Formats: sequence, structure tokens, C-alpha cells
Amino acid sequence: MMHFKKLSAILLLAGILPCMSVFAQSTPSMAVNLDKVGHEVSPMLYGLMTEEINYAYDGGIYAEIIRNRSFQDDRNNPVHWSLFSEKQGGTIKLDHKTFLNRNNPVSLMLDVPVSENITGIANDGFWGVPVKPATVYKGFFYAKADFDGDHRFSVSIRGDSADPTVYATAIVKKSGADWNKYSFELTTKQDIKPTSNARFVITTAQKGRYWFSVTSLFPPTFRNTPNGNRPDIMQLLSDMKPAFLRLPGGNFLEGGKFSSRYDWKKTLGPLENRPGHMGTWGYRASDGMGLLEYLRWCEDLNMEPLLAVFAGYTLGGDHLEGAYLQPFIDEALDEIEYVIGDVNTKWGAQRAKDGHPKAFPLRYIEIGNEDFFDRSGSYKERFAQFYKAIKTKYPQMTIISTSGKEFDVPGGKADMIDDHYYRNASEMEGMSTQYDDYDRNGPKVIVGEWATREGSPTPNFNAALGDAAWLTGLERNSDVVLMSCYAPLFVNVNPGGMQWKSDLIGYNALNSYGSPSYYVQKMFSNHLGDKYVPIQAENIPTQFETLNEKDIASGRKPRKIPAMFYVATKDSKKKLLYLKLVNTQNKAQKVNIDITGTEQILPAATLVELSAMYPEATNSIKEPTNIVPVKSDIRINGNAFTRELPAYSIAVIVLKIK
Ligand code: AHR
Repeated sequence: MMHFKKLSAILLLAGILPCMSVFAQSTPSMAVNLDKVGHEVSPMLYGLMTEEINYAYDGGIYAEIIRNRSFQDDRNNPVHWSLFSEKQGGTIKLDHKTFLNRNNPVSLMLDVPVSENITGIANDGFWGVPVKPATVYKGFFYAKADFDGDHRFSVSIRGDSADPTVYATAIVKKSGADWNKYSFELTTKQDIKPTSNARFVITTAQKGRYWFSVTSLFPPTFRNTPNGNRPDIMQLLSDMKPAFLRLPGGNFLEGGKFSSRYDWKKTLGPLENRPGHMGTWGYRASDGMGLLEYLRWCEDLNMEPLLAVFAGYTLGGDHLEGAYLQPFIDEALDEIEYVIGDVNTKWGAQRAKDGHPKAFPLRYIEIGNEDFFDRSGSYKERFAQFYKAIKTKYPQMTIISTSGKEFDVPGGKADMIDDHYYRNASEMEGMSTQYDDYDRNGPKVIVGEWATREGSPTPNFNAALGDAAWLTGLERNSDVVLMSCYAPLFVNVNPGGMQWKSDLIGYNALNSYGSPSYYVQKMFSNHLGDKYVPIQAENIPTQFETLNEKDIASGRKPRKIPAMFYVATKDSKKKLLYLKLVNTQNKAQKVNIDITGTEQILPAATLVELSAMYPEATNSIKEPTNIVPVKSDIRINGNAFTRELPAYSIAVIVLKIK
């Protein structure tokens, strides 16, 4: 079925339909009384949610270039590795009998039949190796040989198999037949064009048998943190000014079975000691993004971690209760100690050993993920066990239940509940009132996953309209909805990179971009006051909702929902009023605004506006900035003024208060 807004847009562009999506009405009006401010706005309202999905870490924010760096991605084949041979000859294969350590129980064996024939192994990265000019890459690899004496390897970044270009090269040497760690730096030349049609190559000219184990290559990272994150993606996140990071999932936390849950203790320490594990979304996680890396990510962006702990239930439906659950409760208590314990505690000392003596802030603990899907019916008991143990040791923690109905449990009451919503734009617009009637004595809410799912791989402008409408509702209700975070956050846009469509930020090996929905989040989060200011609105235009397939099948008739959304908050310190307005219609819409109260509005104001020609318009890796917010200075004539909102637009008007 053609989308109603799309049809209107086409007709509008064709000049057939001047304006048809709404009903005849008089100019909407909004009255804001600055003397009547409402509740406090939660300063934690805008955060981030993350998990290993869509190549979010490996092949995403985690800057490691080498794919399948410990050769464990496939038991039978050295996937993403190939033989490099200048002439003919040489073979590679996995060897499960020769390995570096028990956590990496396999190596890549290279046979070099004759000397002077440059032979080696090549890695094709995550959809290519990103090459940029005058850039220093740091790496290491483990290797051993079947003969004693000196070993000399050449490492290089070079073109793909059809391209002889060598972008950077270095020589490394060690002696002895045992495993050696070879560290190196590669610096690319100034006069090259950025490309990802490249490989990382290790070669030798000495005849013999060689084995390779964990191999790593990093470009410069955000703040040059070793084992760190991609600067471009970190900058996109930093610009959103997120208050918290919900980690490590999502379904990634739970795993398909107990052995593939997020086992945080296996994500610590040197990379060569991390086993990695089979993730939830169809590919292996290197766990280079380990618990400490998550916490450093929080530190770098000044976010608080929201730590979700494994709660004894897997996606496969296995669960444990009572005494059998205790080891997992202990695991969660240890995890909290790793984050906040001082260096005299067992796990605080481990954190110090891992390179971070300073404790991290931590206030929010979530028990499990989406236990409203728990098929075992055991969440109530499991939650109570976790709740009691954590509150006893750490009474200061805010404990979050992932099943709204379970907030009242034996042994405790959840401090917060985590609600999730994935809907189309019309549904999100219709749900902007979701929390208006919420029981003010009920538990506080984190909307820990939500998204308007229109557009792939990243959301289109219609999704951004749905998001913006929804967020006006969250700000209006930010006395109960204290936190929110969009999901999924990331997608690698290469073929095969996506497991879940409509993701906030897209990237390939070289570049990244924000979707229209990303810019909505940025606009809303960057203009968040500390007090909600109620708006008395009249004549708000309406539209018929677009039904989803289920509703159509059920015979339900479309309801009328608003076509315009609004919210205001005041920044008491900066003396600013933020007025957010969303026009989902295919025509410009005038609105009369009247601001009253003892305080005055200054004439000089700022407008930040995001708009599109049609709802399906979007950003992409090729056209990353089709839709970006435009900032302009505007003048307001007195406290009562009229603004015209363009068709399909989202605006933040920043008004100065005298
Ligand atoms: O965000 C994608 C998935 O949606 C999450 O892993 C899960 O919690 C939810 O069902």
C-alpha cells in the first residue's frame, strides 16, 4: 500500500493536490505562560543504547581493522584471510594443534616452499582496510616458525589483489622458534587518496613453516586511546550530548545459550587473552569492546554507564532459579565491583591492573533484557533474587526491571522499568501521548529501546518526524520518563552488515553519517531545559493514522491523530526557552505563539530547522548530508508572534528570556 504521506507528496509535487492530508481548520495557536512552569526535566533524558548488532563494534565504532583477528570466526576456514604470494606457491590453513594459548586455540599455518619468493598472509578487513594519507597505524601480531634463528617479516598496507599499490610498509624481526610478539607502526604517504580497497599483509622471504596468532591493526583512535574507538563515530555521538550509555544489550547480553551470554570476565585484559564469543546476531564478537572499553567510552563522552547484568535467562529459553542462579548473581556483584570498587577490592584491583585505577560512576543497574518476553515465567523470582543481593550490597543503586508488570516483587520494588517501542511513523506520532496518563505514583521509566522503523539501513525523514513527535511526548512526561535511548544505534552499511533495519548512524570502513533521526536526537538533546513549560494549544491540525498490516487485517478503521506536535522547556540558568515544533503535514503551517508572564522575550532568537521535500528523503553513505539541521538567526516581534513551519519540518526555536 502506498504510504499516505508519500502519495500526498507526489500529488503535491505534481501540482494536483494543493493540500489534502488535514482537515480545514483555523490557524493553530499556542499559549505559553512563563510564570507557570511545570515539573523538572530529567537531565538524564537523552542517552545511548548499544550492543553488538549490525557490526556495531567489530567493523563499527571499535577501531580494530583486522577481521577475524584470532582466526576463530570459522572453525574450518581462515575467513577474511588469504594467501599472499608474489609468484606461485605457498599454502595457508587453520591449525588447531598449534596455538598461542587456551583462549585462542587455533593458529593460521603458512607454508613457504622456497626462499626469495615473497609469501605471506593478507587480511581484507571489515569490508576493506581504511587507508588515509599521512596516518600512523599501530599493530602487532604473534608468530612462530618451525626453525630457530632470525625471523624477518614485512608488514604492509597495500591495494587489493588487483592493485599493486603499497601504501605503507615496515620490517619486523625476532629470533627463536617459539611464539613472538611483533609490534610495528605503519605510516601512509601524504599524497594518497583515501580508499578502503586495501589489504593488510604480512610476508616473509624465508622458506619454512610459520604459524600466526592474534593480529591487530589500529588507525588513530578517539583521544588516541589504545584499543579505542573511531574518532568520526565518537564525534557524531559526542555531538548528541548523551547522558548515559545502556550496555551491553539488548539481546547481545542474553545470548542464545548460557555459553554465549555476555560473560564480562572474558572481555578483560590483553587482546591476546580474550577468547571472544559467538554473538546473538549471527557473527562472532572479538570482545575487543570489553567491559573496560565500554566504561572508557562512557568516560570519553562524559556519559554514565547503565549496566545491564545477565539475569539467568537466555534467548533460547533456558533459565536458572534459586541456588542455581546464585553464581550469576555473584557474577553481577563482581561486575559492579569492577566498575565502582576501590583498588583494595578484588575486582577494583583487577580494573587497576587492566589500566584504570580510578573507579567509574555507576547508579543504574538493569536486571536482564526484555523479560516481558520471558517464556519461562521466572523473571519475577529471578528479579527478586538479583534485587535483594544488589540492594543489600549497594543500596545506592537504582534497579531497573525489564518487565513493566514485575515492578512490585517479593523482596523489593523496581526503582524503574524499561519500556521498548519499535513502530512506524504514524504509530509513533499517535503514541506521543503514551505517558500523559501514566500513574505518577508508579515506577519511573526508562524507554531503553525505541525507534520509528521506516527506512533502511538508516531511517528516512518520515521516521524522523515520528521520532520528533514521540520525543515531544517524552519531554512533556519527563517527570516519569527519566531516560530514553534509541536502538539500534549503529549499522555497517555494507552488504551483509545489517541484521536490523532503521539504525541511527551508518558507516563503512572510511566514512560515517547521521540519519535524519540522528539529527532529531541531536537537536532535542542539545536544547533541553531543566523545567517543562506547559503549552495551551488550540486548533492543532489532525491527520488520519496510517494503519500497519496487522491493523488493516483486523479491519480497524484509521483514527484521527494530531499532525502537529509541540513541547517547551526552559533553561533557568541560561535564561532560554526552547520551543520544539513538528509539522508532519505536506504543507506549510502557520502557528500563532503567545508568550505571557512577568518575563519578556528578547527579539533576537535562533531557529534550528530540519526539513525534507518528501517523507522518504534520507541521508546515506553516498549522500550523508542531504538532510541536516539549518541554524539561522530570527527576530521575534513582541511576545505574540506568528511562525510558518515548512511542510515536513522539525523546528527548535531558541528564545532568550529577559
Ligand atoms: O534493538 C534490537 C533488539 O531489539 C534488541 O537486541 C532487543 O532488546 C530488542 O528486541
